[in-house]
Amino acid sequence: MIILPADESGAVKAGECIASGGIVAFPTETVYGLGGNGLDAFVVARIFEVKGRPADNPTILHVESVEILSSVAVDIPDVVFQLADRFWPGPLTVIVKRGPRVPSEVSAGLDTVAVRVPGHMLALKMIEVAGCPVAAPSANLSGRPSPTSARHVIAELGDRIDAVLDGGDCDRGIESTVLDLSAGRAKILRPGFVTDRELSEVLGYVPPFGDGAGSPGLRHAHYRPRCRVRLFSGFPPVPTRRDGVVTLSSEPHQAIYSRRMRSLEEYAREYYRILREADEAGVECLYLERPILHGLGMALLDRMRRSAGEV
Ligand code: TXA
Ligand code: MG
Repeated sequence: MIILPADESGAVKAGECIASGGIVAFPTETVYGLGGNGLDAFVVARIFEVKGRPADNPTILHVESVEILSSVAVDIPDVVFQLADRFWPGPLTVIVKRGPRVPSEVSAGLDTVAVRVPGHMLALKMIEVAGCPVAAPSANLSGRPSPTSARHVIAELGDRIDAVLDGGDCDRGIESTVLDLSAGRAKILRPGFVTDRELSEVLGYVPPFGDGAGSPGLRHAHYRPRCRVRLFSGFPPVPTRRDGVVTLSSEPHQAIYSRRMRSLEEYAREYYRILREADEAGVECLYLERPILHGLGMALLDRMRRSAGEV
């Protein structure tokens, strides 16, 4: 595995590696992805194998501009282009009907495909040089917290992948909003940085949250650190010897691991790092303050509930 620097030369080498059939971990504005040629079924199978990802969990194609969308999808509704205009490059993934060039392995056999243009200069350069849509799930072992720095990727997958493009820490910290536009009215399959209210400004209605049945990946365990995770509201619990505490609205008590978040944005940006740091600190049970159930809070609470094994 080689570590590539966060500059144009690094992004070009990452793109060349993908063009020649390799798999590369790369930064996006949300989390690190593990990318390879999304038109090559063997490469996609290798990505799944490296992650230990169940074959029934489809993955996202990353493209460098909206123009490429028509080469990987068919019957694209006009509203998708309006959404792209507003939110791309950025943390919105659209589900549309899969085009014939895209191997069914990408979509776990579904007749739809997930596509996004990531909001990260290095990622865009890499994809452009690769010259193909880049299939990329988050660059973690299946079930583990998503990586938000190259260090997390190297610790977990370092010896199994060809390269890491080291772009430092991710800005947003949690994954894109997944919006299904493949059948009739839009549905949110995974809440993310783009909120239901923001989407409604383009769609003309507030998209409902899917029941989970539409997003096959949501059946599996997700974002789990080694420590137990418990959510709380109101006063922070008084920690016992091996507890960790993260608060949002008040100062936490001293503990072997304690953090105070100043905003929902900070909580999102730090979230997966906190899970990894708590494990490193030897925490047995990590108490996390619930965010409000609104906007970015919805996305954060979704990840927290999965970390806690509540869903
Ligand atoms: O921010 C992100 O979206 C990051 C960065 C790397 O782009 N990627 C990411 O990928 O989170 P992943 O594979 O960890 O999550 C993709 C989600 C899963 O919940 C998956 O089930 C869903 O998107 N998905 C992908 N293709 C789908 C499809 N055709 N139909 C329904 N859901 C799909
Ligand atoms: Mg993931």
